[in-house]
Amino acid sequence: MSHKQRIVSGMRPTGPLHLGHYFGVIANWVRLQEEYDCFFFAADWHALTSEYADPTRIKGFVPGLVKDWVAAGLDPDKCVIFQQSRVKEHAELYLYLSMYTPLGWLERCPTFKEMNEQLKQKDLNTHGFLGYPVLMAADILMYKPCAVPVGKDQLPHLELNREIARRFNHLTGSEFFPEPADMLTEECKLAGLDGRKMSKSYGNSIMLSESIDEIAPKVRGMKTDENRLRKSDPGDPSICNLYPYHKLMTDPARLPEIEEGCKNASWGCVDCKKLLMQSLEKFLTPLHERRAACTDERVAEILETGSRKAQAVAARHMDELRKLVNFDF
Ligand code: TRP
Repeated sequence: MSHKQRIVSGMRPTGPLHLGHYFGVIANWVRLQEEYDCFFFAADWHALTSEYADPTRIKGFVPGLVKDWVAAGLDPDKCVIFQQSRVKEHAELYLYLSMYTPLGWLERCPTFKEMNEQLKQKDLNTHGFLGYPVLMAADILMYKPCAVPVGKDQLPHLELNREIARRFNHLTGSEFFPEPADMLTEECKLAGLDGRKMSKSYGNSIMLSESIDEIAPKVRGMKTDENRLRKSDPGDPSICNLYPYHKLMTDPARLPEIEEGCKNASWGCVDCKKLLMQSLEKFLTPLHERRAACTDERVAEILETGSRKAQAVAARHMDELRKLVNFDF
């Protein structure tokens, strides 16, 4: 048994991960696996809440997600990597928790209201989608973690998770569930190539799995300081969309030179992009190597082992819970 404190987090398998995911969330997970007993999973049932009409793609996205994680540095020997739908206990706990969750809490959840507005073309007025935060509470509480590392957008869900835990404990007169803390991981947000939020749907992302050749034309087309029309115009790194990429991936010793060169117009955007390409290549090469080594067979093995480990914990906690709620007959 590990004496480390436990944390749990998941991601929906909805497509390949990009640099925004890496610097926003995954880099933190990679750090956390050294200090905590980590459970990281592909939330395929959560993907289903919005993709239920055409779920075929989810199946392919799960192995892709695991490959991206391993490429980014998650080590299956250090953390438990699993697939939500393989641990059937999640569905059972979701059912029990749903008994304790007042409808109003879910209807008032900001993510429910927003998503329903935004994704008008998909009908998200379903029981499954309304229950999204309850399923998430089941994912989390199943493992009784101390904290949940997520981005800011998930905070309303974590608040609901604690409320559900509290209500369950109150109604069962127990302290069965802990109230897991937020662990914000979104310290650095990397904007997309065009300056908007990096998102697959905007086509402004660099994927972790993309080859250097595919990335080069994207970098050449990147937005920089828009006030700098000619190389002879001085630029301002603090409003340039490219400079943050250097801060994350270029040797820090070179940053003063880039900043000065931009401000005094001795260094142009083309030079800046060339250097960024070198930095990206240096940064991505080890990721690409780890990804290439992570074959489909290896992914199957990782998910098999991880799901078994997660299931062992889940089964134990569900045995205890069934006793507590008098459903052990
Ligand atoms: N809702 C989360 C997201 O979209 C994914 C998720 C599902 C999750 N279950 C979770 C995150 C449990 C943390 C813990 O990012």
